Amino acid sequence: MRIIQCDSKEEAVSTVASMLLEKIESKPNSVIGLATGRTMEPVYAQLVKSGPDKFKKTFFFMLDEYVGLPLNHPSSFKHYIKSHLINPLGLLESQFSFPPAHLSEGASHYETSIKESGGIDFQLLGIGKNGHIGFNEPGSEKNSRTRIVKLTNETIEANRDQFVDKNIPTDALSMGIGTILEGKSLVLLATGKSKADAIKYLMNHHDDPSCPVTFLKNHPHFTLVLDPEAASKINLNI
Ligand code: GLP
Repeated sequence: MRIIQCDSKEEAVSTVASMLLEKIESKPNSVIGLATGRTMEPVYAQLVKSGPDKFKKTFFFMLDEYVGLPLNHPSSFKHYIKSHLINPLGLLESQFSFPPAHLSEGASHYETSIKESGGIDFQLLGIGKNGHIGFNEPGSEKNSRTRIVKLTNETIEANRDQFVDKNIPTDALSMGIGTILEGKSLVLLATGKSKADAIKYLMNHHDDPSCPVTFLKNHPHFTLVLDPEAASKINLNI
């Protein structure tokens, strides 16, 4: 695990945006996995500033999606990425693959699509307060694949304010930990003090199902990018 501890949230965001852009510059037809959440909004704003040309040959997979929302619901992750990245950059929706949360065979379809793309070159990740990755909640297994998962009450509460009608689904279709670990490089951005406990736990544990981020620790190309608040409970100097 490589750790980049930044002096500000802005620097952490820029670091991650630059890493993603460098990947696309070195391999324009990269397959990129994208995450949602408030943490990623400034990253996408920065990518939008870099203009659309670099992304013409890039293909994207989204990490997860709520189950049971009508298509194009304003709080769906599909809507999120359309408003933060696809529409502002004028990208094609056909450059994106979305977890087909409305299909009963959605999980296996998604796994097949990822394999057929040649695999994910660069997976962007956020983290939940309880250490969840995608929607792989505590209790998820290291070899888990894309599947429908039950959200914990903590996650539902953490995401409730993103629902206009406050009526948040209880299930989601998420890439599994095993699926994520097959990504060639993984970059996790954590900002804000609400993530500090999960980051501290990550430092001291590995392969611990009670905190799924710990499964990433031994990936050969896993980079953790932290702002000062997310890093506030760890000490890298000892
Ligand atoms: C959701 C997403 C995760 C994301 C997490 C953190 O649960 N499924 O991919 O990492 O939220 O969100 P935020 O960045 O808003 O704290």
